[in-house]
Parts: sequence; C-alpha cells; structure tokens
Amino acid sequence: MKFKYPIISFLILVLCLSNCSTATIEEVIITEPVTFDTDVSIIITNNCLPCHAGGFPSAGLNLEGYLNVRSSTENGNLLSRINSISNPMPQSGPMAPDLIATIEQWAEDGFIEN
Ligand code: HEC
Repeated sequence: MKFKYPIISFLILVLCLSNCSTATIEEVIITEPVTFDTDVSIIITNNCLPCHAGGFPSAGLNLEGYLNVRSSTENGNLLSRINSISNPMPQSGPMAPDLIATIEQWAEDGFIEN
C-alpha cells in the first residue's frame, strides 16, 4: 500500500499523539525561575508563620527569613511535612498543589534568594 501524502499523514499522526498525551498529563508546570523573595516567602508567611515565628515557635522551628526556611528545606523536614498526608503542615491540611510545587521547584533550582 502506498500513501499519497506521506508527510501530511505523518503530521496528522503526530498531532493526534501529542493531543492524546497532553490530555492525560496532570501536573503543575512552573516556567518562571522560583525565588525566595518573590514566590516562597509569601507562602511561608501566610501558611507557616502564624505558628513558626517569634520567641517560642511550634516545635522550636522558626521559619522566619531565607536562612531558616532554606535549612529546614535542606534537611528534608519541611518538604516531608508539607507533603505528608497523615500529619501535614499546616496542621489544617495540605496547601494547594501549586504552592507545594513552588517550594519543591525552589529547592530543585538551588534555593535562589532573589
Ligand atoms: C497552626 C499552627 C501551625 C502551622 C500553621 C504550621 N505548623 Fe508546623 N508545626 C506545628 C506544631 C504544633 C508542630 C509540632 C507537632 C508536629 O510535629 O506535628 C509542627 C511541626 C512542624 C515541623 C516538624 C519540626 C520538627 O523539628 O520535628 C515542620 C518541618 C513544620 N512544622 C513545618 C511547617 C510548615 C512548612 C508550615 C507551613 C506550610 C507549618 N509547619 C505550619 C504547628 C504549625
């Protein structure tokens, strides 16, 4: 059998395949570089500082400022608790997936400050 329009057939096939795959992938894709000052700080302030700030923070964990958040992320505690299903942080329940993904991306990119 011989195709009359091999290139067009091929393009249609590629289009079909790419449509199928994008329809099934559900993940948060972040394209901008993530920085502490622009992206992460506000998430921590809104969701964590009510308890993890001041002289007597919960669990003795102060998350005020770049260095504190970075060290809790580097030692794995912060990421494991924001992703925990049985014992999440914040205690009221896991944050929205895009907020969690933002912090994960920040760690992956090497903790850019600003
Ligand atoms: C309503 C208060 C509250 C909020 C809000 C909160 N935490 Fe906590 N957090 C606690 C308490 C209380 C503990 C100690 C008990 C426990 O581990 O569950 C704790 C423990 C932790 C621990 C474990 C510390 C250790 O050394 O064992 C981490 C990490 C943590 N929180 C991160 C976070 C992050 C990140 C956020 C924001 C996304 C957050 N928490 C929001 C109250 C809070």
